[in-house]
Amino acid sequence: MEFLKLMTKRNSAIHRRGLLAAGLGFAALVLSGCRMDMHIQPKYLPYEATDFFADGREERQPVPGTVARGQLRLDELFYSGKINGAEADVFPFPITRNDLERGRERYNVYCTPCHDYTGNGEGMIVQRGFPQPPSYHLPRLRTAPVGHFYGVITNGFGAMYSYAARIEPADRWRIAAYIRVLQLSRNATISDVPPDERSKLDAAASAPSTALATGKSE
Ligand code: HEC
Repeated sequence: MEFLKLMTKRNSAIHRRGLLAAGLGFAALVLSGCRMDMHIQPKYLPYEATDFFADGREERQPVPGTVARGQLRLDELFYSGKINGAEADVFPFPITRNDLERGRERYNVYCTPCHDYTGNGEGMIVQRGFPQPPSYHLPRLRTAPVGHFYGVITNGFGAMYSYAARIEPADRWRIAAYIRVLQLSRNATISDVPPDERSKLDAAASAPSTALATGKSE
């Protein structure tokens, strides 16, 4: 009997402790439920409708004249290849050997599939049926201002799509400079070659033709 009493006493103690814990838990729930900050945010989700603005849209248009950070393109020559709206025949920065190397590398990546490594316009995609581009060595393109090449890369031209999303402006100029190199290579005379470099021409002439085609010959 004594044992039974003891057990009941212990049980009710446990029971009381349980009740207390449950009560505290409930209080915590109720109290935290009353806090609005960060838990339920009064906000609009993208493209939500609202009757707050007259046009019924919660999203606003940018204020007229807004320029996104990094998008202020005041340098007409650098960004459009033009001077006062006409295709320019000057580069916006001095072209160094490094720029030509970079131009060749980018040209080989982006342009050779159609224009091929020499600029004849007989790239692999053309051999597989894509419309053939004109050769860079036509008189019309040899005399075209360099801004024309910049513009074609930027805006596309006829069947050729724009490369603006893939090639940043400075690299477009470097590619344009490298196209000038390709054009010159067809029309250069021996006097264009510095005397101490001339002996290398004989070596290049006897090298396998693929060295020239991959642009690896120096
Ligand atoms: C997918 C094939 C393709 C690629 C890649 C390509 N082009 Fe072209 N390109 C063409 C075609 C096709 C034309 C002719 C478009 C026409 O006249 O409708 C053309 C024309 C041109 C012209 C001549 C425009 C004129 O005045 O006649 C230039 C310059 C040119 N491309 C430069 C480039 C450069 C630079 C690159 C690399 C950044 C490049 N293209 C990459 C297909 C391509």
